[in-house]
Amino acid sequence: MQSALCIDRVRASRAFVQSAPWAGSLPSALAMTPEPVDWAARYREADTPWDLGAAHPELRRLLEEGLLAPSPGGDRALVPGCGNGHDARALARAGWRVTALDCVAGVDGALGSDLAALGGELVVTDALAYDGGGAFALVWDHTFFCAIAPEQRRAWGKMVGRALAPGGAVQALVFPCDKPASEGGPPHGFAPEAMGAALGPGFRLVSDAPVARGVEHRSWMERLARFERVD
Ligand SMILES: C[S@@+](CC[C@H](N)C(=O)[O-])C[C@H]1O[C@@H](n2cnc3c(N)ncnc32)[C@H](O)[C@@H]1O
Repeated sequence: MQSALCIDRVRASRAFVQSAPWAGSLPSALAMTPEPVDWAARYREADTPWDLGAAHPELRRLLEEGLLAPSPGGDRALVPGCGNGHDARALARAGWRVTALDCVAGVDGALGSDLAALGGELVVTDALAYDGGGAFALVWDHTFFCAIAPEQRRAWGKMVGRALAPGGAVQALVFPCDKPASEGGPPHGFAPEAMGAALGPGFRLVSDAPVARGVEHRSWMERLARFERVD
């Protein structure tokens, strides 16, 4: 049901794009965008090559080195497109009060209770429609931005804008950042600039560097970028 919601959202925006009067002048990669992903089926069939089986090594480094620590009060972190929740759990164990979002129900049967035990929650919903009510200090994105269709990126930016409190930050794994758009996706290649454009002028890029601890088997380059809210 929730997964169907995600798919409907892509189909609706694609239908809009392809029926527009200027559709004939679209780049062929966009005009020929493949059918949206059935995420529930991918999990059902255990076809989940993105799943690292553990938190991303760069996130572990940030947490170990105290570079991504919540305030003593326990700031709230949002993890959209959390999948099996390895990163969400790592953030929660580090003291963040985590809200993890995914459109697939029961991605991991224990994730909701694990997060609840640490003061967080799993919400099964279309993350792009989520209204975080300005309650979050951090949005952690790891292979969610690259998983959505490029025409959904502005919706991602608006969701982040709704979720983050003033002074809040987006910490993102930029992957795959050297994959040409002509190769399609997901994962759809993007650079930090594309994420900045999706966020809009209320955010500034404060850091962007190759990851110190990457995933060995990933053939495309990974960067770590941080955007802070300035409006
Ligand atoms: C490539 S996977 C990444 C999962 C996780 N971040 C990880 O690194 O293992 C993308 C995830 O986003 C979820 N997803 C895709 N579109 C979504 C949407 N509109 N709302 C919520 N979740 C979505 C999928 O179900 C999937 O779990």
